[in-house]
Amino acid sequence: MLDAAEDRIVDVSDLEPGGMQVVEAAGLKILICNVEGRYYAVEDLCTHAAFPLSTGHLEGCVLECPVHGARFDVTDGSVVRRPALRPLSTFSVSDETGSDPSNSEGSKVRIRVHLGVPV
Ligand code: FES
Repeated sequence: MLDAAEDRIVDVSDLEPGGMQVVEAAGLKILICNVEGRYYAVEDLCTHAAFPLSTGHLEGCVLECPVHGARFDVTDGSVVRRPALRPLSTFSVSDETGSDPSNSEGSKVRIRVHLGVPV
């Protein structure tokens, strides 16, 4: 089985609810979204025409692409509105100790990016 993960610790102290922050991990651009105090991480790339979603708009848990208006639910990556058809890649988020970050007083979160595909 080929399976590995890269962890990235990110300071989110300046990330207000409704805010987004781009980080790089494992060669990917990842968008951290603060949804009412909970953090979610998705790939910063619209699945419709590969445009960065970090220039889009986050309202609640819905992220809208600025190019053609596709919408995604950042909690699970699912498509909410076309023209995108494929969901976004999502990544696990925890606090520095591996616990749920919404229960933490800390200002940093851990993003886990899985590398490779189990075979
Ligand atoms: S590039 Fe995002 S909707 Fe077309």
